[in-house]
Amino acid sequence: MSTVYVNEKSGKDAADATGSEQSPFASPAYALYTNPDAKVLIYKQVEEGEDSKFEYVEISASALKKAKKGAEGLKKKAEKQAKMKEETQNLPKVEALDLNSIEEDKSLPEAKKIKLGKILENVDSRVLVQGWIHRLRVQKGLAFITLRDGTGFLQCVLTGDLAKARQTQELTIESTVAIKGVISKLPEGKTAPGGVELKADYYKILGLAPGGEDAFTNKIQEGADPSLLLDQRHLTLRGESLSAVMKVRAAFLKSIRRVYVEEGLLEVTPPCMVQTQVEGGSTLFKMDYYGEEAFLTQSSQLYLETCLPALGDVYCVQESFRAEKSHTRRHLSEYTHIEAELGFLSFDDLLKHIETVIVKTVQYVLEDPVAGKLIEQLNPGFKAPQLPFKRMQYIDALDWLNERGILNDEGKPFSFGDDIAEAQERKMVDTINEPILLTRFPVEIKSFYMQKCKDDPRVTESVDVLMPNVGEITGGSMRSYEYEDLLAGFKREKIDPAPYYWFLDQRRYGTCEHGGYGLGTERILAWLCDRFTVRDCSLYPRFTGRCKP
Ligand code: 4AD
Repeated sequence: MSTVYVNEKSGKDAADATGSEQSPFASPAYALYTNPDAKVLIYKQVEEGEDSKFEYVEISASALKKAKKGAEGLKKKAEKQAKMKEETQNLPKVEALDLNSIEEDKSLPEAKKIKLGKILENVDSRVLVQGWIHRLRVQKGLAFITLRDGTGFLQCVLTGDLAKARQTQELTIESTVAIKGVISKLPEGKTAPGGVELKADYYKILGLAPGGEDAFTNKIQEGADPSLLLDQRHLTLRGESLSAVMKVRAAFLKSIRRVYVEEGLLEVTPPCMVQTQVEGGSTLFKMDYYGEEAFLTQSSQLYLETCLPALGDVYCVQESFRAEKSHTRRHLSEYTHIEAELGFLSFDDLLKHIETVIVKTVQYVLEDPVAGKLIEQLNPGFKAPQLPFKRMQYIDALDWLNERGILNDEGKPFSFGDDIAEAQERKMVDTINEPILLTRFPVEIKSFYMQKCKDDPRVTESVDVLMPNVGEITGGSMRSYEYEDLLAGFKREKIDPAPYYWFLDQRRYGTCEHGGYGLGTERILAWLCDRFTVRDCSLYPRFTGRCKP
């Protein structure tokens, strides 16, 4: 068996690399593509710290599996390219008709400029549409373009000279074009987006996208390695699924804001650069702030609490940052955190508020003419949750898990004080298969600010909302509203209370029973849109090792 060397930093995935130690490849996928049966050695850090050491080590089984998949993708790409080349070589010589020589017929009615979201309101009218070529079929004397502009899709048909022109024959996917023509309903039996098509009488190419090696379809391939697709996120976003999720996301944000208005909450915008923590020091991103230590916010909760006396019940839609070391399907380093804080309410009121916000928001998203349809496509059979949600106490969840022989992370039956980790939580909520309000977590596994239960000071007035297929989408609680209790919380978690004077003042200058919660936008979207990971619900996801593009 031959051996090939891979060095991600200094290697090259090109024909002039040999895969030897002196001339390594850059990716294991390319190495296997050129040498399918070879043993792959990767240049890796084998010792960390001051004595950091790099050497070539054999590829791990999981990386090998991934590389084989990648190699398969490269092979398919090469075959496709060869086929395309052959087809272009065999193409009959096209007439050298120049598109620029074709003039617009000035006797036609003026074309009205529209976005594709408005095509159904403009049937039988002459319009000007502009967008990107999403799909393309060029035949002799006829060309079909599926145009995309972000608001919709439209099938456009070019005939006659427009189709014969040299530039049309050489057109590529993702080029931008401006097309004029009349939109008409399709006859029975024919299908196209919206059941209409545009018969072009004039068109111009605005920006020709590359063909050949650099063609869009060579850059973005279904089933390609996720990390390669993330490198091309700016192009992947143009795909139907990802753009659909982003549209649902917009509808979700619009809907939840509408619900907050109906529920009487005011939107505020707390700072992202802070000098206090909320959810534990281990996930803080530190930064240098003009020579002082500062952090990127983990949660706007403490700031929202300070708004209650000034503005009443409040909410925010703000990025939160977590230096999560774990590579899970539901953790991001930056996520859109929707947080709310409400005053003069009981724990029970808080639970009712949370479930109402979720149910109403989902209802509004489903009623949205665009997002509703997209959810049907992305998550067929999705059923909107109903009020009230199932309530379950932490202690009963432990019994539920123990009765089914589901063990904790140490492989033992659960006992009071154990964290219910992601996998076990998922098993429970997936089996129960409905939203759960999991309440009353022990003091020691929750944050410093949580109010203890009056009937059992070992547990807190806390809640996690769990959804099937995702697990926790929301975490909230009542807040210690007595000054001394809050101070004890700081002491318990070994946090210096001094930088929190402004937060502690809330308990001095008129305290009240209050509570709130944070909802992870990407998590609720993963549930709504049935995505495997929250990474598919963020425009440009950030997680360990990824802060680009
Ligand atoms: O449970 P968490 O950490 O709670 C808080 O931050 C509270 N201070 C919020 C509050 O009461 N105002 O986070 C709340 C929610 C989680 O339920 C989850 O949906 C989401 O934020 N979340 C994350 N989403 C993606 N990536 C991460 N790393 C996340 N960490 C939390």
